Amino acid sequence: MNEIEIIKPDDWHVHFRDGEILKAVVPETSRDFSRAIVMPNLIPPVLNEKDAIEYKKRILKAVPYKDNFTPFMTLYLTEHTNKNDLKEAYLNQSVFAAKLYPAGATTNSSSGVKDIKRIMPILETMTEIGMPLLIHGEVTNKSIDIFDREKVFIDTVLDFICRKLPNLKITLEHITTKEAVLYIKQGNKSLAASITPHHLALNRNALFDGGIRPHNYCLPILKREKHREALIKVATSGNEKFFLGSDTAPHLIADKENSCGCAGVFNATYCLSVLTQIFENEKKLPYLEKFISINGSKHYNLKTNKLKIKLVKTSKPLTFQKKLNVNNQNIQIFNPDFPIFWKVS
Ligand code: DOR
Ligand code: ZN
Repeated sequence: MNEIEIIKPDDWHVHFRDGEILKAVVPETSRDFSRAIVMPNLIPPVLNEKDAIEYKKRILKAVPYKDNFTPFMTLYLTEHTNKNDLKEAYLNQSVFAAKLYPAGATTNSSSGVKDIKRIMPILETMTEIGMPLLIHGEVTNKSIDIFDREKVFIDTVLDFICRKLPNLKITLEHITTKEAVLYIKQGNKSLAASITPHHLALNRNALFDGGIRPHNYCLPILKREKHREALIKVATSGNEKFFLGSDTAPHLIADKENSCGCAGVFNATYCLSVLTQIFENEKKLPYLEKFISINGSKHYNLKTNKLKIKLVKTSKPLTFQKKLNVNNQNIQIFNPDFPIFWKVS
C-alpha cells in the first residue's frame, strides 16, 4: 500500500499559545486538520466566554486563507468558575468544553482545581447540558512519584467523578499508562481518552538518551516501554474510546533547554506522517482513520469531516525540518528516531 485516502483528521487537543507563537503554530495544525480543541492554559487563562471569543478571533486571523479550519474553544475551570456563566457560554456555542487542570499539574496550571469536591456543582451542570469535561489526569502531590501520578489520579479522582456522574462526557487526555487504557476500556460509556504521537513513539529512556533530552520532556511524563506498548495496542485497535489528541505544545528552545525547562512537545508539523508510520510499522494502517478521523467525532457527537486527505509513501525517508521560526527564535519540531516514509499529499 503506497497511498491511502482517509477522512480528513481532527486534533482533539492542541496548544496554540498567543501572540507571535500563535501566528507561527496555527498554520502547522490548520494545514492538515479540519478541527481542533484548543487548550485554555494561556497567561492569564481563558476563564470566561468573552476571553474565549476574543481568543478564537486571534486564532482565526492566523489561519492561512487556503485552509478550512475550525478551532473549538475551551474554558479553564477554577474553584471560582460560575456554573451559570459556563452554561451560558456553552449554550451560546462560544465554547465547546471545559478543561480541568489539577492546580500545579503542568504548564500554567496554577489557577487550577485543588479539591475536586469544590467543583462538583459545576460538573453536575455540565452533565445536565452535555458539555464535555477534558481532564489533565495527574495528581499534584509532590510525595507521589512523578511516574505514578496518572495512576493515582485515576484511582483517587477520576473514579470518584465517574461514579458520581456516570453520564458526564469525559476525555482523559494524553493517557500514558496501561492502567489508564484498562480503566477507559472498562469505564462508563461516556468516558474516552486521547493519546499523543510522542507517547506512542517514545518511552522514558528517550528522556535520558546519552544525556538529558529536554525536547522529550512533557507531562504526563513518558513512561516505561510496557506502557507505550499498551498505548500502541489500543490506539491501533480501532477501539472507539481512543483517539488522537496531539497535545502539540510549543515552547521556545530557550525555554526548553533551560535549568528548569518547560514541559511540552511541539509535534503539529509532522503529526500525520509520524502516526501513519507508527500504524504501518504495527501493520495496522486500516485502523488509522478510526484513530485520527472518526473516533473523536463520535465521542463528541459530531459528524465526521466531508473532506478527505491522501497519505503517500515515499521511496526514501523524509527529511524533517528541524525548527519552526518565531521572529528570531525557534521552536523544536518533534522528530522520533525512526525513519518516516509517509507524507500528506
Ligand atoms: O507537556 C505538556 N505541555 N503537558 C501539558 O499538560 C501542558 C503542555 C503545555 O501547555 O506546554
Ligand atoms: Zn496539553
